Amino acid sequence: MTTESAMPRTRLQILVCDGPSCGVTHESELLKELLVARVAADPELQGRVHVVDYMCFGRCSEGPNMFVRRLGPQERADAEPDSAAFSGERGFYPGMDRGKCERVLAQHCKAGVVVGDLVDDY
Ligand code: FES
Repeated sequence: MTTESAMPRTRLQILVCDGPSCGVTHESELLKELLVARVAADPELQGRVHVVDYMCFGRCSEGPNMFVRRLGPQERADAEPDSAAFSGERGFYPGMDRGKCERVLAQHCKAGVVVGDLVDDY
């Protein structure tokens, strides 16, 4: 018997802040590399989850920050959205590290459940 994910084909975009604060220590770059590698290695995420740089969420002191959002059917996966794309979406994750990224991939991206103790209002 196979168990199907709660959101098997929903396309997601993980926006990783590469702004002047989050990106300055290269920490966000390392997190982006981790996310890209994990997505590429996981058949449940590959081709469905897209990791993209984002200029700045305006929450610079809390970084490194990222946002997980659903992509519309016609939306380009590699394009940075404008801020209106975040309304109604609960996916802002501040203060990320490697362990938190793993949890977001497993819970939010694979199971479709926002990680309640990591997500914040945006
Ligand atoms: S530099 Fe990351 S939120 Fe501004």
